[in-house]
Amino acid sequence: MENRLLHTPEGVRDTYGNDYEKKLRLQLEFLQILRNYGYREIDTPSFEYFDVYSGEIGTTPSGELYKFFDKDNNTLVLRPDFTPGVARAAAKYFIEDNVHVKLSYSGNVFSNARNLSGKLKENTELGAEYMGDGSVEADGEMIAMAVELLRSAGLKDFQICIGNAGYFKGLCEEAEIDGELEMSLRDEIGNKNRYAAANLIKDIEMLESQADKLLRCVELFGDVSVLDKALVGISNERSKAAIERLHAVYEQAESRGIQSYITFDMSMLSKYNYYTGIIFRAYSSSLGDAVLKGGRYDNLLSKFGHDAPALGFTLSLDDLVLALNNEESGRTKDDGYLTFALTKGRLADKTIEMLQKTGICLSEMEDKDTRKLIFTDEINKVRVFLAKGPDVPTYVELGAADIGVVGEDTILEEGRKIFEVLDLNIGKCRMCIAGPQSAAELLQHHEMIRVATKYPEITKDYFQNVKHQTVDIIKLNGSIELAPLVGLSDVICDIVETGSTLKENGLVVLEEVVPLSARLVVNTVSMRIHAYRINKLIKDLTDIINEVEPVI
Ligand code: PRP
Repeated sequence: MENRLLHTPEGVRDTYGNDYEKKLRLQLEFLQILRNYGYREIDTPSFEYFDVYSGEIGTTPSGELYKFFDKDNNTLVLRPDFTPGVARAAAKYFIEDNVHVKLSYSGNVFSNARNLSGKLKENTELGAEYMGDGSVEADGEMIAMAVELLRSAGLKDFQICIGNAGYFKGLCEEAEIDGELEMSLRDEIGNKNRYAAANLIKDIEMLESQADKLLRCVELFGDVSVLDKALVGISNERSKAAIERLHAVYEQAESRGIQSYITFDMSMLSKYNYYTGIIFRAYSSSLGDAVLKGGRYDNLLSKFGHDAPALGFTLSLDDLVLALNNEESGRTKDDGYLTFALTKGRLADKTIEMLQKTGICLSEMEDKDTRKLIFTDEINKVRVFLAKGPDVPTYVELGAADIGVVGEDTILEEGRKIFEVLDLNIGKCRMCIAGPQSAAELLQHHEMIRVATKYPEITKDYFQNVKHQTVDIIKLNGSIELAPLVGLSDVICDIVETGSTLKENGLVVLEEVVPLSARLVVNTVSMRIHAYRINKLIKDLTDIINEVEPVI
């Protein structure tokens, strides 16, 4: 019998041997490097009042916080990151007018993320916070420290990608966009989802040139020349100042001899209304996500009663050890190949046809009897594999594939952090609420109904946020139409393509939830490492969608 006592819960693990030694060594070396820059260590509690991490201060959704109560019924949270806790402590003990405070920290952070997502729920983080200094020199120092830490760790291949929250903010002000729409737009631009961003603003009154400038953010990334491109046609002062600041940050990097590590990205936006100036992330080709994240958050300290500028960064030591191990064993994304994860089934043939039109040779895949799992085009340096739909965003988010092709339904359901860069205009269908005609009436009342679906997240979102109706969701894995026929549910939430499955079973569409089609999705690191090839692929596929011959 399995002995539960010997196991750790899902998402946490024991660290020992070489990995633990590496982690400890890095921790000590990094804190020493930060000390050389004048940063003094601080230790804050592992748990704090919920309020310290909620609202505008927090960058972790409430559902991903570990919450509990103390004996006086206060809600407490295990810290999901250090910054708000360190800012609280700094506001309490150190901050006085015109005093610069430099603090470093290291310890464990906790995130109650989804089970079995391939992500750790307890991570050791290390970082620095520089408070009371709003100068570009402070920005420059922070970036220089980030480079020095990664270099001293022995990470060979990495880049620091920098954006400025003020650029996008200025464009939103110019177009008179604010509040919820700005947040949604920031989300889509941050995901490089030009299509969804365009959809959000299509009914909003603004000049075409303003809409273009907002959408153009998704393409403005690369070396320092991006900054000049970003200035074209910009008249608002806030966006101009943001670019000026980035130029000055670049000069700082040049004076420290680290400019070769620097790239820029105008769509580098945080989902949260937290960053006020530069935002930066370090990407390594040996890890599927950023290895270090930071930026300027000049409004944070005012939440704790002090109006002082602040910036900082944090890195996960666990991720860094993984990146170093991957580099050591040659497991890097920069092996010359672009890896595609395609969705098995209905979508596969159409996707393969489209990719072949871009010049990628996938003739091996035409043999339907083959049991091979990975197909390679040595000339174009492309690797392709087929996976079940819901697995495609997982492969892409965690970096096992650079690019994926998958239905929007799956993207919405899985909620993975991936760039959604193109609507491929194939696999078109609709997510619908369907059932017997008699069930139409049930949807008008706010009574409890039972909904069977393969898509519980989409269903929950639709009934809670659109219809404001409480429902019982029953998760099934296929042939959803059976559920109302045999009395398992009142209605279903499912995909309708031709409508023949519904028709043949005496069911009808009662409401449409969302139109769907297949999307090209990209890993957030690959988008930077393989920027040229991926941009060319996006352009070729766009031409194919618009039926223009691609230039091969
Ligand atoms: C999908 C969907 C519907 C059907 C709709 O199922 O879940 O059942 O297709 O298509 P139609 O409108 O053209 O009839 P799929 O065939 O993918 O298999 P599943 O039932 O196992 O989910």
